[in-house]
Amino acid sequence: MSSEALIDIKGVTHAYKTKSGPLPVLDDLNVSVKEGGFVAVVGPSGCGKSTLTRLIAGLMKPNEGEVWLHGARVTSPRSTVGMAFQNPVLLEWRSILDNVILPLEIVPTKLSRKEKEARAEELLALVGLEGFESKRPSELSGGMRQRASLCRALVHKPDVLILDEPFGALDAFTREDLWQTMHALKAKEPFTGVLITHDLRESIFLADEVVVLSGRPATTQYRLPVAFEGARTIDHLYTPEAAEMLNVLRHQIEIAQGRVAA
Ligand SMILES: Nc1ncnc2c1ncn2[C@@H]1O[C@H](COP(=O)(O)OP(=O)(O)OP(=O)(O)O)[C@@H](O)[C@H]1O
Ligand SMILES: [Mg+2]
Repeated sequence: MSSEALIDIKGVTHAYKTKSGPLPVLDDLNVSVKEGGFVAVVGPSGCGKSTLTRLIAGLMKPNEGEVWLHGARVTSPRSTVGMAFQNPVLLEWRSILDNVILPLEIVPTKLSRKEKEARAEELLALVGLEGFESKRPSELSGGMRQRASLCRALVHKPDVLILDEPFGALDAFTREDLWQTMHALKAKEPFTGVLITHDLRESIFLADEVVVLSGRPATTQYRLPVAFEGARTIDHLYTPEAAEMLNVLRHQIEIAQGRVAA
C-alpha cells in the first residue's frame, strides 16, 4: 500500500475462536486511508465491519497481516484514535460537559481543568449544544446525545476518528443534520476518518471513498471514489451523479450478500 497512508490495513486475516471452532471473519483485507481522508465501509450485516474498527483501534490483534497508523504498527490500544458508536453510552451521573471531558481525564495531558472545560465547550458549541453543558444525558434527545458523543470522540484531538454506525439509530432528518455537522467538525477539527454504515446515501455524502466488503469472511470487494464538486450539501444526493453511485453500490451490496452473481 502507499507510504503516505495514515491508516494502512495490510493483508489482515482474522478468525474468532468459538466453541464450534474458528469463525473466519476477515480474509486478506486491505484498506488504506490517506491523511485527512474519510473512507466509508459498507457490507452485509455480520461481515466483520466492527471487527475491523477494533483492529484499527488496537483493541485486538489480527491472526495474520498488519495494521499501521502513522507509520507505526498497531499492537496495543491507541489514544490517538477517537471512537463513536451507534449507542452513545454517555454516563448518566456526569453532566454533558463532564462526559465530553472524560477522555482528557484518561489520556495524559498538561491541560488544566479550565483548559479542558474550554476545549469541551468549544466542541459543544461547534455541534450546536451551547447551553446544554450542565444537562444530564437523559435530558437530551437521541440526536443531541450523539452530537455530544462525537465531541467526546474528538476532545483529545485524535488523528483518527472511527465511527461505527453512529447515526443508525436516528430518524432520517436528524441523521441528515448530523451529516452536515460532521462536515463542519471535519473542517474545524481535521481528522482521518473511517465510517462504518449501512446507509449508502450517508456513505457518499460523508466519505471520499466507499469500500464495499464481501460477505463473511470479508475482503475488499469494491472501491468507489466519491468526487462531488465543491462543499457538499444535501442537494448533491439528488444529482444524477449520486443516483449512479448509489446504484453501483446497491448492486455491489447485492453481490456481497450473494443475491446476484458478480
Ligand atoms: N468476540 C467475538 N467472538 C466470537 N465471534 C464474534 C465476536 N465478535 C464478533 N463475532 C462474530 O464475527 C462476525 C463479525 O462480527 P462484526 O461485529 O465484526 O460484524 P459487523 O459487520 O460489524 O456486523 P453488523 O453489520 O451487524 O454490525 C459475526 O458473525 C459475529 O457473530
Ligand atoms: Mg457492527
